[in-house]
Amino acid sequence: MAGNTFGEIFRITTWGESHGPAVGVVIDGAVPGIEITAEDIQKELDRRKPGQSSVSTPRQESDTVEILSGVFEGKTTGTSISLLIRNSDQQSSAYDSLRDTPRPGHADFCYAEKYGIRDHRGGGRSSGRETAGRVAAGAVAKKILSEFGIDIVCHTTRIGGIAANPDVLNDLPFEGILENIEKNSVRCADLAAAVLMEAEVAEAKRTGDSVGGIVEGLIRGVPAGLGEPVFDKLDADLAKAIMSIGAVKGFEIGAGFAAAAAFGSEMNDAFEIKSGKIAAASNNAGGILGGITTGEIIRFRAAIKPTPSISISQKTVNMAEMKETEISIQGRHDPVIAPRFVPVGEAMAAIVVLDHLMRNEALCLSKNYKNRKNSSELRSELTVPSDRSKIKTKEV
Ligand SMILES: Cc1cc2nc3c(=O)[nH]c(=O)nc-3n(C[C@H](O)[C@H](O)[C@H](O)COP(=O)(O)O)c2cc1C
Repeated sequence: MAGNTFGEIFRITTWGESHGPAVGVVIDGAVPGIEITAEDIQKELDRRKPGQSSVSTPRQESDTVEILSGVFEGKTTGTSISLLIRNSDQQSSAYDSLRDTPRPGHADFCYAEKYGIRDHRGGGRSSGRETAGRVAAGAVAKKILSEFGIDIVCHTTRIGGIAANPDVLNDLPFEGILENIEKNSVRCADLAAAVLMEAEVAEAKRTGDSVGGIVEGLIRGVPAGLGEPVFDKLDADLAKAIMSIGAVKGFEIGAGFAAAAAFGSEMNDAFEIKSGKIAAASNNAGGILGGITTGEIIRFRAAIKPTPSISISQKTVNMAEMKETEISIQGRHDPVIAPRFVPVGEAMAAIVVLDHLMRNEALCLSKNYKNRKNSSELRSELTVPSDRSKIKTKEV
């Protein structure tokens, strides 16, 4: 009921608050025997951590991960993995003025209404800091997926009024996108657009404002057949995973909302035979039909709102005194969330895909097993041992 757990077989539970001693995650269902080190997890946490550039909050956190369980001699043991990330740069007094005055656009008002008590220091569970646990779990999921040839990248395609050029993006291979996003602070693969996006963020910051964005996710190497009809379709689970990240206001798969303006003859992806395999001539479906993967690249997009905390004065109320008042938020905040969303989106997508890979293996065990083994091998493995008759059965 509490909503801190996500996934069926590969299952994560995040915990901790922005201004508490630490945040973290417990992972159940991590495949045993996978090589994983604190450095593998740290690499992803470093991509998410604050204070990396002028487009991110100046809060300084090392976000150093501590592996408390589930990894022995550099390999997953198959038991629960517990990961802890200590908070070190809280500066909670900056939030004193927010004790009774909810920030417009943030979750403060709703938390107060729901629980009747609220940790006003930095948003508690609704803080972007909660995503550190997701990214740490996502690093484990990504590592496992890489063993199966599946990889994921998210990249910023819009910030405010500036959009990446689709032709530039279409010409970039998957590796090109992976490489380019680490060359600029907004994580945009179109390097010319990235310069304009950085200027857009700088201008919002200068005026005490914030700005929104769009991030696209690409998942490569997913075999056809993942996704469970009818409520656990892969696109439904991806939508839930992505929409569960703070500040996400929209989700699209494949052609997304553009599908509403298309004709069927434009939208349908024709099937063809490419190098002896069935493939789609286009990918408006975004790699998923009927909730089940087609084997093409999975493509999704998330619309991310401007950061709610801004220093421009806004109207709010003092809930204790029941009086209208004004608020200008002076804490340290991201002027844009989209670039920081990138590793979080990748993590959540990895968790969904790995969970479904494992679910598919469980459900389609017989089909998958038979595909791997030739039937004679299978028969010999299942043959009753010759000394079967020696086993004494006791009648009751
Ligand atoms: C990585 C990340 C960083 C964020 N940083 C901030 C921030 O510095 N200041 C802020 O007000 N909101 C920030 N947010 C957004 C809030 O967490 C979010 O708007 C809030 O929880 C309300 O949820 P909603 O926007 O989904 O309704 C961040 C979100 C993410 C995912």
